[in-house]
Amino acid sequence: MSPKVLVTRILPPQAQSRLLEQDFDLYQWQEDACIPRHVLLEKIKGVDALFCLLTEKIDQELLDAAGPQLKVIATMSVGYDHIDVQAVKSRGILLGYTPDVLTDATADLTVLLALGASRRIKESICAAEDGQWGKWAPTWLCGSQFTNKTLGIVGLGRIGEAVGDRLKAFGIGRVIYSGRSEKPRNRLGAEFVPFQTLLAESDVIVVCCALTKDTENMFNYEAFSRMKKSVFVNSARGGIVHQDDLVRALKENLVGAVGLDVTTPEPLPPTHPLYTFPNCLILPHVGSATFETRENMANMTLGNILAGLKNEPLPYSI
Ligand code: DGY
Repeated sequence: MSPKVLVTRILPPQAQSRLLEQDFDLYQWQEDACIPRHVLLEKIKGVDALFCLLTEKIDQELLDAAGPQLKVIATMSVGYDHIDVQAVKSRGILLGYTPDVLTDATADLTVLLALGASRRIKESICAAEDGQWGKWAPTWLCGSQFTNKTLGIVGLGRIGEAVGDRLKAFGIGRVIYSGRSEKPRNRLGAEFVPFQTLLAESDVIVVCCALTKDTENMFNYEAFSRMKKSVFVNSARGGIVHQDDLVRALKENLVGAVGLDVTTPEPLPPTHPLYTFPNCLILPHVGSATFETRENMANMTLGNILAGLKNEPLPYSI
């Protein structure tokens, strides 16, 4: 009998073709929107494998609805804060994700946000489009450059290190980082510092850590108050930032410029006050959105599903 597999979205084209070649009893959500929770709870009943995205909450309720035959869950994401890992593992279900493959795409976009925020790209584009562009003027739309500045990386994992590599090419003079543990032989030669030091000494701060109980809301009003008027970029998860506090910090001019690829909630409603600040650049969670990376992510996820269904160790296992 073919294994029952639930896939919660249409995949990028090559991965979608590969999926359709499999001998699966497949239910795939066909709309270009998240599968509604009640449909997910209904469709997961009796499945052997679940291919999900970061938009689906994987919790006790869902696992109960699935039933004891569920062998493998594979998320098409590197982040897994949407999954109750403990609950999944305690039921002996294999769990896979997509590390490494989105490092370059996400690091590129993080750099884009850092440069875009510090060089006032939002204001510059609006000025050109809105007819505010007058004669060349020496002080108009000046931002700051990275030459000899200090970069602070929160979370020196794969993505943090790749962001550091890239930003060093823009002249960054010193790299510091904070996180759970020191990485003594990191290739950036970055110094491990307490979070408070990172806040006080960085000209550019990039958030590249996972969202956990320890990092949730770590960028609150107190943290913003301790920063120099730096460039602040978050391409990790919205929950790491206390968003109301960020709004307050922007109002009080505590932060120089902000670049966000992640927010709470997602999507961030167009009426949200964060959009009103000319020095706050917001993108709709597109860090890994390149054709190459999304194909790779979907293929890795499918690889995890295929291995799990054969009771083999997952190639990319949490
Ligand atoms: C992830 O995979 O966790 C990213 O946030 C989306 O690509």
